[in-house]
Amino acid sequence: MSIPHFRSADNPVSAHSRCSATPAKVTLPHLQEKKRQGQPITALTAYDYATARIVDESGIDLILVGDSLAMVVMGHDSTLAVTVDEMLHHTRAVRRAVRRAIVVADMPYGSYHSTVADGVSNAVRFVKEAGAEAVKIEGGRNRLELVERLVDAEIPVIGHLGLTPQSVHRMGGYSVQGKTLRGMNELMRDSVALEHAGATAIVLEGMPREVAQQITAEISIPTIGIGAGPDCDGQILVFHDLVNLSFSKPAKFVRQFGDAASLFRSAIEGYRDEVVRRTYPAELESYHLPAEERLALEERTLEQEAERSGTKLALIR
Ligand code: KIV
Repeated sequence: MSIPHFRSADNPVSAHSRCSATPAKVTLPHLQEKKRQGQPITALTAYDYATARIVDESGIDLILVGDSLAMVVMGHDSTLAVTVDEMLHHTRAVRRAVRRAIVVADMPYGSYHSTVADGVSNAVRFVKEAGAEAVKIEGGRNRLELVERLVDAEIPVIGHLGLTPQSVHRMGGYSVQGKTLRGMNELMRDSVALEHAGATAIVLEGMPREVAQQITAEISIPTIGIGAGPDCDGQILVFHDLVNLSFSKPAKFVRQFGDAASLFRSAIEGYRDEVVRRTYPAELESYHLPAEERLALEERTLEQEAERSGTKLALIR
């Protein structure tokens, strides 16, 4: 991946990173610049320290601590159950791991659905207590006041339109949205309204390629697609889908770029077999007493054996 050499006034990162092809820290203005330059934005979800480190060190621009963790980490059948405290817990773990990518926290269902004030105070927690650099909320024109208030509170907001998993009951399942001209117009109006309200970027999920392509061309903030075709400014996937850890039939748009399930299974089976055969741990994988202590132990064992056989002899006689 290469990021253009921005003029220093546009780029708040260090002098070192201004000179290198890859910035030391990706920022939200970098994403905007990537859209302007037609360079794809890469994004992935992560929910824990280990995977977030790998994702970050692999050069992904944006890491979303998605509420999809309710499903892929916690085993729920929708995203609705995860709480603000649980999302904070995972966002903190990701924050500790990430040096370069932008960390975005997903606002869970219920955390911004009652009042705007509630939404703002929950979003503040993600920034203050977990180190998120932006929050993501689902919805369009019904969320404009919240977007404006978050921007006022210096919290960058990423919108999320189309197949919004928190609306699963209203949608009657997880189905592609915007398949009619009317639906497409609604999504377009939502996108434009989110941009005007101050959103930094918009995730476009589960919609026809043509719709995402038109939205991407119409608005000046980046679009990040998932199941929305290749014309978005960037792409995001759920980490567990990418590496075959989701235990469900992948959606049409998912490409499994690796098979962590097989890798983990063969490692775990190898471990189990070697423990059962007593070939793990081996001599080289064991700690030892220092030489002197070993000698002392051997002497003590010999003494104990001699003592035991002396006692036995005495008893026999
Ligand atoms: O929660 C999530 O993982 C998401 C992505 C699918 C964009 O919202």
